[in-house]
Amino acid sequence: MMSSTSSAAEKLVVRPGILDIEPYVGGESKLADGQRVIKLSANESPLGPSPRAIEAYRDLAGSLHRYPDGGSVALREAIARRWNIEAERIVCGTGSDELISLLCRAYAGPGDEVLQSRHGFLMYSLGALSVGAKPVFAPERHLMTDVDALLAAVTPRTRILFVANPNNPTGTLIPSSEIARLHRGLPPSVLLVIDSAYAEYVTQDDYEPGIELVRHAPNVVMLRTFSKIFALGGLRIGWSYASPAVTDILNRIRGAFSVTLPSQAAAIAALEDEAFLRLSREHNDRWQPWLTQQLAALGIDVPPSAGNFVLARFESAPAAQSADHALKQQGIIVRRVAAYGLPESLRITVGLEDEMRALVAVLTQWRHPS
Ligand SMILES: Cc1ncc(COP(=O)(O)O)c(C=O)c1O
Repeated sequence: MMSSTSSAAEKLVVRPGILDIEPYVGGESKLADGQRVIKLSANESPLGPSPRAIEAYRDLAGSLHRYPDGGSVALREAIARRWNIEAERIVCGTGSDELISLLCRAYAGPGDEVLQSRHGFLMYSLGALSVGAKPVFAPERHLMTDVDALLAAVTPRTRILFVANPNNPTGTLIPSSEIARLHRGLPPSVLLVIDSAYAEYVTQDDYEPGIELVRHAPNVVMLRTFSKIFALGGLRIGWSYASPAVTDILNRIRGAFSVTLPSQAAAIAALEDEAFLRLSREHNDRWQPWLTQQLAALGIDVPPSAGNFVLARFESAPAAQSADHALKQQGIIVRRVAAYGLPESLRITVGLEDEMRALVAVLTQWRHPS
């Protein structure tokens, strides 16, 4: 029985590119012996979601037999009000990950290239491979998105250019003027996707998440998520803002009911809770610079981060592994980023005060064993 099933499976033809995909491995959350963990590996907000979002989610427990509104109308209207944009140009999806996949499906295929920067977010290259397109990586300068290098890597086959700003896992940000320059240098046949997953954490003045560019350019998409500052990663809600033409394409291929009923309600409630959002931002404003300074004092280099995480750069890959091991021994899980071409680095999410102090204490002991 087994052998006939497997020989049947061997006859199935998998599309080009799929077997080149290494399945995405998210930040770890458990340790072998089940000890209490401090999870700083997935850029989740340590304060969790707004209590109003949790309440809205719970309120729908009695309605789980109902399909959600497939068009996420109320959620799109809430997003539109908050950012002063048009609801008709928004598409909601199962996390921004789904929208990344949809964009690749809609605009790239075999023979096409999907461009990103060297240490850009991995989902872009996975999305490209899954549709048979070729991921292309442009070099960065000092771990920063390099506009000139990206423009130099554009070829007649380039279909999509993904830029996360701030970028994950480096945390680095380029000013809006640079994003505008990037857009000006692109042929109109290339879709520029500005992934602003961490926009709400940015404090720099010369930053704009992409709304202005989308408003005026038909070949720009901005992606946003409820997984980061709104702390609803477990519910999987993301959204895009794009031209009417791109929005129409996404609406044709998206899942009919891709955002669940309680997810839509929780996201709307989270949006309305300004005070909680402020609290989450203030927490990051305080503890992200603190973490950066403490790591620097231990001789661990940290590129300036505009997000709710930092990239801790050790002197070598073995040093990063050894630090990771020391942290794990004490139940602290951070993110290895070798898959991003950064084997000498660990990405550390900003956690609660006691979690930050515990992490620094372990690294201090690791650096200066007593
Ligand atoms: C730059 C960037 N884009 C998108 C995502 C995915 O977000 P979502 O949870 O909405 O799929 C992440 C999550 O880590 C991210 O860092």
